[in-house]
Amino acid sequence: MADLANLETTALAALRACTDEESLRAWKTRYFGDKGEVQQALKGIGGVPKEQRPAYGKEANRIKESLWAEYEQALAREQERTLEASLTSDALDVTLPGRMVPRGRLHVATKVLREIYAIFADLGFQIYRSREVEDDLTNFELLNMPLHHPARDMWDTFHTTTDGVILRTHTSPGQIHVMRDPRYAGRPIRVILPGMVYRYEQVTTRSEMMFHQVEGLAVGETITMADLKGTIIAFARRLFGDDRTVRIRSSYFPFTEPSIEVDMDCIVCGGEGCGLCKKTGWLEIMGAGMVHPVVLRNGGYDPAKFSGFAFGMGPQRITMLRYAIDDIRQFWANDLRFLRQF
Ligand code: DAH
Repeated sequence: MADLANLETTALAALRACTDEESLRAWKTRYFGDKGEVQQALKGIGGVPKEQRPAYGKEANRIKESLWAEYEQALAREQERTLEASLTSDALDVTLPGRMVPRGRLHVATKVLREIYAIFADLGFQIYRSREVEDDLTNFELLNMPLHHPARDMWDTFHTTTDGVILRTHTSPGQIHVMRDPRYAGRPIRVILPGMVYRYEQVTTRSEMMFHQVEGLAVGETITMADLKGTIIAFARRLFGDDRTVRIRSSYFPFTEPSIEVDMDCIVCGGEGCGLCKKTGWLEIMGAGMVHPVVLRNGGYDPAKFSGFAFGMGPQRITMLRYAIDDIRQFWANDLRFLRQF
């Protein structure tokens, strides 16, 4: 019995002396391992005189349970303390500046398109989207260019393996789709048709094989060239500044009569002549004209009653003028050094 009392005192003292989890585990092995001292004490019952055995066994079990309870408490306290310490020392410093999240941005082509939409929206034009894969009929023929018409040479065309199916070379075929759309069908039209067009062309600093166009179409019973002129001037001034002047030159397109090309006074030299305008003082911004009677008729509008104007421009060209970009290939090269500038 004295040995048991001694075991309890020393074991408790050793437990109190433990300072970390490691020493606690070592304590556990020493007293509660397979050959641990508590185990030995329990087995020691064999050498105890018979009449003292019940008392010995009872006491040995009490010590075993009490020591185990003490051990579990000490271990829990120690784990709690470790966690507490790590929370204090590794605490989040909420005053540190955050990591920058890289921000995306709109592509310059998208930005300029949206500016154009906003200007024409204010002038009462709706946006009309039409297909990029066209048929020969709509891209050429219905626009007054029958097969073998020499004007087809103005557009180098991407053909598909399906006969008559091509990538549109301009947004003008959209005019036919609008006029034939049952939502318009004979009613006045004021729309712009933005979108990608495709040309089978050598890619250079000045020409790409895909680029945007914005087509415009207004059809009504009283539309004249003066409306076209007013629309173009309003557009140029909103996009390039209030003091812009615009010049109209006679030109030729199969789908307009008369046809014009529109120049704006050079944004760099104001007309004096410089590198950008190639010493002419003028920058070409679009082709336009009065919708040809054949085209109106092909769209289902009676040219005896209706007239209309149309125009077509290249936003990439306009963007190049505005920001003095000297290589059109930059638009689709996905070079972030270029794109981040806008
Ligand atoms: N479709 C012409 C082109 O791609 C541009 C154009 C010129 C459109 C005159 C028009 C227009 O609507 O009236 O070169």
